[in-house]
Amino acid sequence: MQTITIRNFSKTYVKNNQKIIALNKINYEFIKGKFYVIMGKSGSGKSTLLNSIAGLIEGDSGTILYDNQNLTNTAKLRNENVGLVYQNFLLNENMTAIENVMLPTFLNKNLDKIKRYKKAVNILKELDLSNRLNHYPKELSGGEQQRVAVARALINNPDFILADEPTGNLDEKNEELIFKILKKLANLGKGIIVVSHNKAIKKYADTILILEAGDLHEDK
Ligand SMILES: Nc1ncnc2c1ncn2[C@@H]1O[C@H](COP(=O)(O)OP(=O)(O)OP(=O)(O)O)[C@@H](O)[C@H]1O
Ligand SMILES: [Mg+2]
Repeated sequence: MQTITIRNFSKTYVKNNQKIIALNKINYEFIKGKFYVIMGKSGSGKSTLLNSIAGLIEGDSGTILYDNQNLTNTAKLRNENVGLVYQNFLLNENMTAIENVMLPTFLNKNLDKIKRYKKAVNILKELDLSNRLNHYPKELSGGEQQRVAVARALINNPDFILADEPTGNLDEKNEELIFKILKKLANLGKGIIVVSHNKAIKKYADTILILEAGDLHEDK
């Protein structure tokens, strides 16, 4: 997958008769191999946008195309092409670190148990979690949980990695580790789309995007 194209995409929430326009006819094309950072105030619709790209939210109008095709109904393709790191990690509490990381591989019939396990071990090692494989989320620090969530997004080797505040809970050292890993992945040809409030990420970005008043535009 080379591109993710957003066309006239809108999403409005209605709650207690109040309308919240999160995304208002957004247009943008994300290209593989580039590192995008999306910034914007709390409540400006950043998570709504990432979750829409990942196919977890349906828009009111407009489309999101992968390689110019509408694949929103194809969970398997999305699962293999887009890796998502959620804002609140969403790890399965009843699974160990390594089981959480292996979870997205179960739709992939080409991998046997040993291969899944080896892949997960390697990714967790890269994220400095070799000695936490069998810990449950509640036995991990916030930063460790966050790195498990990053590992889970990487396991299927997706073309695009979406990360919603991936360093929110991390100290500076681990924050740098995550930014560097994402940058390395962009250099290896992956598309990286990161939501962050953190100014330290700016130096890694190819493009900084601002979401405000329902509109997405490049930072000038
Ligand atoms: N399920 C929902 N029902 C009603 N309103 C919602 C829902 N989800 C989000 N909203 C509202 O839509 C707006 C955008 O929310 P969103 O989570 O996308 O913001 P955000 O930019 O990610 O904020 P933050 O930086 O705090 O994570 C917010 O005002 C929020 O209150
Ligand atoms: Mg958010």
